[in-house]
Amino acid sequence: MAAECEAIGVVGGGQMGSGIAQLGLVHGLHVYLSDSDPEALARASKSISSSIQRLISKGNLSEAEGSAALQRLHCTSSLEEMNGCDVIIEAIVESEEVKKKLFVELDRIAKAPAILASNTSSISITRLASATKRPAQVIGMHFMNPPPVMKLVEIIRGVNTSDETFLATKALAERFGKTVICSQDYSGFIVNRILMPMINEAFYALFTGVATKEDIDTGMKLGTNHPMGPLELADFIGLDVCLSIMRVLHSGLGGSKYVPCPLLVQYVDAGQLGRKQGLGVYDYRKSPGPTKP
Ligand code: NAI
Repeated sequence: MAAECEAIGVVGGGQMGSGIAQLGLVHGLHVYLSDSDPEALARASKSISSSIQRLISKGNLSEAEGSAALQRLHCTSSLEEMNGCDVIIEAIVESEEVKKKLFVELDRIAKAPAILASNTSSISITRLASATKRPAQVIGMHFMNPPPVMKLVEIIRGVNTSDETFLATKALAERFGKTVICSQDYSGFIVNRILMPMINEAFYALFTGVATKEDIDTGMKLGTNHPMGPLELADFIGLDVCLSIMRVLHSGLGGSKYVPCPLLVQYVDAGQLGRKQGLGVYDYRKSPGPTKP
């Protein structure tokens, strides 16, 4: 990668991709943002504009900085336009098969020195890298939700990730004002390996009638000082994302402790995916839910 990163690509304009794009824009980068769903791309562009507007009204950005940031946003339906990017960050659906297909495509399009990063929550970076001809330049760059707010980026080195790629990715995360932790490439890495079994256990507690959803969440908020209860956090992350991560943990690490709770599976089967859809464990259609994001 060039000494100084000037342009990034972000593929996937959902809750994570739009937040990562916003971070790039406010830190002086050109951002090429793409999504296979044109409506999702339009929503991402709108939500980035209103977030930047909020930063201006709070005095965190000047009018001039905000409008320059928005001018650096290039929403595109064509991945080919990312061929000048120094780093391309993938934030699409949590499916190894779909991500691998995208990595093959990105490897073809991206300029030779470009880094290909995945925001995956749990999927093997080594296996994503093996879909490309540049495994030394493939890395996990796992932002937390929401990316502009959360202070952590977890970096995952695949078996063949080079030191140069690691250092450039760390420098980019630090440019975004984040603290970096580094994980080896095992299912779920650090954060989700610990977080998801807890969320899954909360679903088991609800499923087996240990307590109400409100008492489970209040118990963990006030009893262990978590800012959100595990069930409302699951709604915030997306129940589909939680289930995908549990399945990756189960297939990668084995053992009964990673079996997804049937209640979590049932919510996803019913299309109740959490806050992003208005309905998950809680109903957000009439009220903002138990906590504000
Ligand atoms: P999301 O469902 O909000 O957004 C995913 C977006 O990707 C959608 O707009 C969809 O249209 C698009 N997409 C799907 N397949 C595509 C393809 N082949 N090409 C281009 N765009 C495609 O999902 P979210 O929550 O933003 O998650 C994205 C990734 O980030 C996943 O890998 C997830 O595990 C990871 N992640 C999620 C976190 C969360 O709290 N939701 C936290 C950290 C990482």
